[in-house]
Amino acid sequence: MTVPAEPDAAVQVDVDDLRGKVQQMYEAVARHPLDGRFHFEMGRAMAERLGYRTADLDRVPAPAIESFAGVGYYFDLAALAPGERVVDLGSGSGMDAFVAALQVGTAGRVVGIDMTVAQREKARRLADAAGFAQVEFLPGFIEEIPLESGQADCVISNGVINLCPDKARVFAEVARVLRPGGRLAMADIVTELPLPSEVTCNATLWAACIGGAAQQDAYRSAVEAAGLRVVSVRENPAYAFLSKSAQGASREFGVKSISLAAAKERI
Ligand SMILES: C[S@@+](CC[C@H](N)C(=O)[O-])C[C@H]1O[C@@H](n2cnc3c(N)ncnc32)[C@H](O)[C@@H]1O
Repeated sequence: MTVPAEPDAAVQVDVDDLRGKVQQMYEAVARHPLDGRFHFEMGRAMAERLGYRTADLDRVPAPAIESFAGVGYYFDLAALAPGERVVDLGSGSGMDAFVAALQVGTAGRVVGIDMTVAQREKARRLADAAGFAQVEFLPGFIEEIPLESGQADCVISNGVINLCPDKARVFAEVARVLRPGGRLAMADIVTELPLPSEVTCNATLWAACIGGAAQQDAYRSAVEAAGLRVVSVRENPAYAFLSKSAQGASREFGVKSISLAAAKERI
């Protein structure tokens, strides 16, 4: 199946091919986070720089932090409360799901969804070993979230939706699974200028969280078109890409990390 790289874009991307490349990259992130061949930084030092609290990180399994490939901090925007039900889209090796679990407590529930087997298996193993009974990791695509409608208090996501060609569909799914009055709190990569086809058609840059990044106004419009009211957007200047090619694209097109919060109306 092919879809436009951005709404109205002439460039088409092959979704199955892209998913295969993304899965390959994030399998390596789960298995070999320390081998230094990634376009992006991972791990505890970056998490602390982005704003994660050391007290939370101290209670999260260390291997989940080593494979943390998020792009920003948003838990202050999420304002999770004990007992809440949270869905983490693209949960990776589980770091954010574990941070959420600390905040919702044992009366709450956190469900992570990820399409990459190695990420899910690592996260599940770590949850079992550390006794996070309120966390579960499910297989699935976030364009078709395998959960009932209207049950989540908060959807969280970190560095993932840029990897999805059909962002409108993902946000429609977010709106579907949230209860009325529920909220979305997330971080992601966007751009100031639309990306040219030599970047959007480069599968490696796509899997590195650059090639699929949407122009920031189009991104916000996609959130709002799903029926979610954007309540806060801020930039995360502490996030930076590592490789020369990624840094070049960042400079030229204003590729940057943002944290965003949105709310579903109560009706
Ligand atoms: C950049 S990593 C971020 C992982 C995690 N949020 C973190 O902060 O470490 C992106 C994750 O999203 C997953 N992913 C990407 N596209 C997806 C999709 N369409 N459906 C489900 N998972 C997806 C990948 O498998 C990968 O684990």
